[in-house]
Amino acid sequence: MKIYVQGGNCLRGDATVHGAKNSALPILAATLLVEGQSVIHNCPKLTDVDVSLKILTKLGCRCKREENTVIVDATSVSCDSIPDELMREMRSSVVFLGAILSRCKSATVSSPGGCELGPRPIDLHLKALSTLGYTINENHGYITCLKEDKTCAAVINLPFASVGATENAILASCLLSGKTIIHGAAREPEIIDLANFLNSAGGKVYGAGSDTIEVYGVNKLYSTEHTVIPDRIVAATYLSAAAITGGEVVLKGVNLSHLNSVLNPFRESGCKTRLSGDTLKLVAPKKLLRVPLTKTVVYPGFPTDAGPCLVAMLTLAKGTSVFVENIFENRFKYIDELKRLGANISIQNRVAVIEGVRSLSGAVVEATDLRGGAALVVAALAANGETQIGSIHHIERGYEDISGVLWSLGAKITKE
Ligand code: EPZ
Repeated sequence: MKIYVQGGNCLRGDATVHGAKNSALPILAATLLVEGQSVIHNCPKLTDVDVSLKILTKLGCRCKREENTVIVDATSVSCDSIPDELMREMRSSVVFLGAILSRCKSATVSSPGGCELGPRPIDLHLKALSTLGYTINENHGYITCLKEDKTCAAVINLPFASVGATENAILASCLLSGKTIIHGAAREPEIIDLANFLNSAGGKVYGAGSDTIEVYGVNKLYSTEHTVIPDRIVAATYLSAAAITGGEVVLKGVNLSHLNSVLNPFRESGCKTRLSGDTLKLVAPKKLLRVPLTKTVVYPGFPTDAGPCLVAMLTLAKGTSVFVENIFENRFKYIDELKRLGANISIQNRVAVIEGVRSLSGAVVEATDLRGGAALVVAALAANGETQIGSIHHIERGYEDISGVLWSLGAKITKE
């Protein structure tokens, strides 16, 4: 399958933003802790969600999807290990580690390989688990963790506000009697959503959204229902598509409080925004202005995941923009593909210098990773002629029907 784009159309119209992948994934892992049924609404139809459901099924849960509602019955969990092929399909399956440990007292996963964003170590995850007293053995590429008598609530200090490590620490301490404190916790909205899910099932997780989270262990979690927050990165992606095509788009079902830092560079580039309730209107200028400097930082700063699409739209801005990626070591692979479309970008370590060009021209390109692939779609929308985008399985990990949504906004885009 490839995505074909005939560039040049201005995007106009309304689009609804689907549920957040990076909230749904840890929440699906958390359903393992519930000795009953978890009904998850606004769960996006993504391949990463499908892999999570395969993992839950392998662990003994009964899973059912009804449109954008997923039902997981984790009454009887019968297995404590995730097979290698499933671990490899999705790096973020490491977040199942803490959940399996909480429920099964032991867990075996294969160490998630590095991926397109550079080495993706899980040292902070394992350090958090060992601070709680779980024993950890790593050999032949497998990680086996065990709950021991000494395993108990503890004070965890995260040297870096790792999203995944924060989620694993919460999941691994949720059923441990006593008070666990996580200092240096990630503050992303997806962490708050995970805590809200756990608390709706009887958990006691306080302080999510701040850098200090307190988890009071409980004996059991009970059947619950939860609605996943909207995906702020998908929202940013559609805003980039509107911006680069000089369009006018209304996004519905967004959580505006999650988009504050995302909107700054859009406004600097000359886009006008109107916010009300759960809708956001963006009106782009004919020609984008350069954005002198954007740096990615942990939440609430500008999110690393929105970086590639911002870089894509700035390839046509008037002047020179500078973009600094501070979170991942090697998140610029997509830039070579943007250059095939005529972008003028030079990279120095974590810094990308984007010289605005007069126009882009369609080409044959390959998605290198999830957000890098989305950036190619964004650039293709404004390129002259046809662009063919291959390896779109990367894109389908995180976007529910990106070509359908953009087509409904007036893009000439098909998936064949
Ligand atoms: C989550 O990944 C997201 N994925 C990522 O989204 C997102 O980019 C990232 O958080 C940062 O916001 C999911 O939620 C499924 P981290 P995660 O732990 O948890 C280093 C997307 O496009 N690190 O905050 O893996 C790591 O190498 C994806 O949707 C360690 O060194 O991110 C990276 O450089 C991409 N040791 C940095 O921290 C560790 O033990 C950020 O990692 C863990 C992480």
